[in-house]
Order: sequence, then C-alpha cells, then structure tokens
Amino acid sequence: MNTKGSGGRRQGGTSARSGTAANRGLHVRVRTARGRTVGQQKWLQRQLNDPYVAKAKEEGMRSRAAYKLLELDVKLHFLKKGAKIIDLGAAPGGWTQVAVDKVKAGQPGGGAVVAMDINPWDEIKDARCFIMDFLDDRAPGVIKEALGGKADVVLSDMAAPTTGHGPTDHLRIMGLAEAAWAFAEEVLAPGGTFICKLFQGGAENELLTQIKQRCRVVKHVKPPASRKESAEVYLVALEFKG
Ligand SMILES: C[S@@+](CC[C@H](N)C(=O)[O-])C[C@H]1O[C@@H](n2cnc3c(N)ncnc32)[C@H](O)[C@@H]1O
Repeated sequence: MNTKGSGGRRQGGTSARSGTAANRGLHVRVRTARGRTVGQQKWLQRQLNDPYVAKAKEEGMRSRAAYKLLELDVKLHFLKKGAKIIDLGAAPGGWTQVAVDKVKAGQPGGGAVVAMDINPWDEIKDARCFIMDFLDDRAPGVIKEALGGKADVVLSDMAAPTTGHGPTDHLRIMGLAEAAWAFAEEVLAPGGTFICKLFQGGAENELLTQIKQRCRVVKHVKPPASRKESAEVYLVALEFKG
C-alpha cells in the first residue's frame, strides 16, 4: 500500500481544451547529446516539443496521459459526480487526478476513486492508491474492499514496457486487457463503463466478442492526445448489462 505523502498537485480546473501551452507551437532542440543514446535523445526532443507535456506541467497534472482521459470523457461523459471509479495502471497518476476531480471524490456527495499500479507512485489526495501487481491474485480483493461496492467505471491504462517486437507487445497488452475485463465483469454496476488500452491491428476479436455480449455500446477511440505514431487505441464499452 502506498504510504507516501499526498503529492499535493492541483486537482481542479482540468480541461481537455487546448490551452495556451498546447497552442504555443514550441520547438526546443536538445542541446547536448552527451551520455545519451539516440533513442533517449529522440525521446527528450519529443518531450520538449510536446504541447501536452507543457500543458500538463502548467496545469499541475502528473502526466500528459491525463488529457487522453479528459478527451474520452468530453466525447462520452462517463465521469460523473458521485461515481465510483477503478483506475488500473494508474502511475504516475494523471488519470487518477482527472477522475478525482470529475467525480468530486472527498467532497460531500462526491464519488470514490481506487487506483493501482505495479510501480511505486505517490498517493493522490482523495483517491485510495495502491502499489501492487494487478495480476496478483490478491489485487481484485484489495480493490473491491477499498471501493466498498460496485464500480461505475473501470479504467485500464495498463501497459508493460514495450519491447519493440510488435507481436510480443501486443500479447502482453492483451493479457492485461483481458484481466481488466474479467475483473470489470465482476465489479461493474449495470449501466457501467469499461475502458482499456489496446494496440491497433492486433487479434483482439475474442475479447471484443465477449465485451459486446455484455455491453450495449462498444467502440475504439483514439483521443487526440494519443500520439499519432503510437499504435495505442482505447476500447470503450458503455452500458454494461449487468
Ligand atoms: C501508460 S502508464 C499509465 C499512465 C496513467 N494512466 C497516467 O495517467 O498517469 C501504464 C502503467 O501501467 C502499469 N502497469 C503495467 N502492468 C501492470 C500490472 N500488472 N499491474 C498494475 N499496473 C501495471 C505501469 O506500471 C504503468 O505505470
């Protein structure tokens, strides 16, 4: 369990609209290549010129990923005041910050957010944060106990570090998505929402068939904040039948 401090980031005022930083058209060059691999240099160059990275910094968000969830919510409206949210693969916490803000966790009439990541991360105020492998047999029990009831939304942004070998990366992310869905089937309240990260072009048919049997609306969405060059896409399932 995470016992570290609150992290103390600003929770309010999250917005999916392009802010000033996002519109600035920054272009920063990496000045020194010393001690960096070509891959590291490219990563740094991309970070320095990424408007979502600048916006996240400006708005006190822990990751640029926060804007993917905000954009999904602008489109689909699933993060409502009072809702109970499970956030899997939550570190460093951008999605958790957005969820806490949207459901008004910790406020009168507000909802609850339970978040888990396998890697150490700093707790977020008004969310129950856990450091644990979601594939550990004990993880579902830990989350259910912390939430204390059915969930309105199960989010999974879980991804193992990529190997660069497409089929391997795809298999790994599918394993995480399948585990997230199996759990969602157990904990989602009727009418609930399931969202998970996938890679485009993979053999996800079996999972898709299963989800379509249990949810009225199923689609793939790539939010604008998801990098074009990334194969990442989100599977969104709405109106869980219960
Ligand atoms: C893309 S990052 C998530 C970013 C996060 N949504 C945010 O907004 O900051 C993917 C996360 O999945 C986590 N992850 C991968 N496998 C996991 C597992 N088996 N259990 C829990 N978390 C896992 C990784 O540690 C990583 O932090």
